[in-house]
Amino acid sequence: MNTLTMRAGTCEYPVYIEKGLMQSIPERLKDMFPQSRIAIITDDNISALYAKNVTAACEAAGLRYDLLTVKPGEGAKSADVFARLLSKLAQRSYNRADVIVALGGGVVGDLAGFVAAVFLRGLRCVQIPTSLLAQIDSAVGGKTAINLPEGKNLVGAFHQPSAVFVDTALLQTLPEPDFADGMSELIKYALIRDADMFIQLEQSGTIHADSDILSSWITRCLSIKRDVVAADEKDMGERMLLNFGHTIGHGIERLCAAQKRPMTHGRAVAIGMAAITAASERMGLTKAGSVQRIAAVLQKMGLPHDISAYDKDEILKGILVDKKNVADKLNLVLILEPGQSYLHQIPGSDAKSFI
Ligand code: GLY
Repeated sequence: MNTLTMRAGTCEYPVYIEKGLMQSIPERLKDMFPQSRIAIITDDNISALYAKNVTAACEAAGLRYDLLTVKPGEGAKSADVFARLLSKLAQRSYNRADVIVALGGGVVGDLAGFVAAVFLRGLRCVQIPTSLLAQIDSAVGGKTAINLPEGKNLVGAFHQPSAVFVDTALLQTLPEPDFADGMSELIKYALIRDADMFIQLEQSGTIHADSDILSSWITRCLSIKRDVVAADEKDMGERMLLNFGHTIGHGIERLCAAQKRPMTHGRAVAIGMAAITAASERMGLTKAGSVQRIAAVLQKMGLPHDISAYDKDEILKGILVDKKNVADKLNLVLILEPGQSYLHQIPGSDAKSFI
């Protein structure tokens, strides 16, 4: 088993990475929290796949647990669903010694993490990410949030988990479109910090959940995240590099949600990474040829890279409500070339030229 130690402020916690880890997690939870009740928050899809095994293992381990399910999809990150979960915990008399377990992808992790952050002013939380995107990114680092009709992740808290369990075998039940979504974030990590990994991506064939190289890439992404979060837990500087492609990506997600067009986070980020690099390359801020390399890798992984079908003015509206904009300044993440990234601040009024 690979174990990484995450450090954020004064807090330290393990990230365990192993294929087939799932079965032993209830036993480990019992060791970590012998007296606690466990509220497992998951969605109906994950519940259908794993609830039977997980609850049987909880019973075998002698854990007192509740299983709380929400509907799958981004809609679960709403104030309504959030409040319902808090009420359920209150009705069942959960107390400060108890623990929230987030079993699912990015949506469940963000939602359950935020429940843990605020219920009784904070319960401990364990993340068991089931999607590639959650395993390499959202389940570690302590960002939790729900959405408002006005935008994504506008309400949330930094609340570091007590432990993260990454079972790479779970990726084998991930539908192909969800897997590709996670690959978008993995490509992001290579682009911001790992030139060798980007070259491996360029040289590889199509990647699947059981590809041998995937576990080593997951560990590399998590190591980058560990270093970035240790340097900047609260997203005031270096951590913003993890938002490469996200400024435009969030604008696209918002636009598609308003127009009821299908769009996922990873696909929107893929278009965002290509679009911002096309712009920065045009302006001489990125090495020539970078966008072509990025587009080729995205295409190979089944991801989009062309922004032309999306209305720039509408994307811009989404960008300008983004919480990362301060005093009409927009912090953009650009790459110098694949593997090296930097922050570039512009006035909000110049944003359109980067889309
Ligand atoms: N997903 C970006 C971050 O954790 O900062």
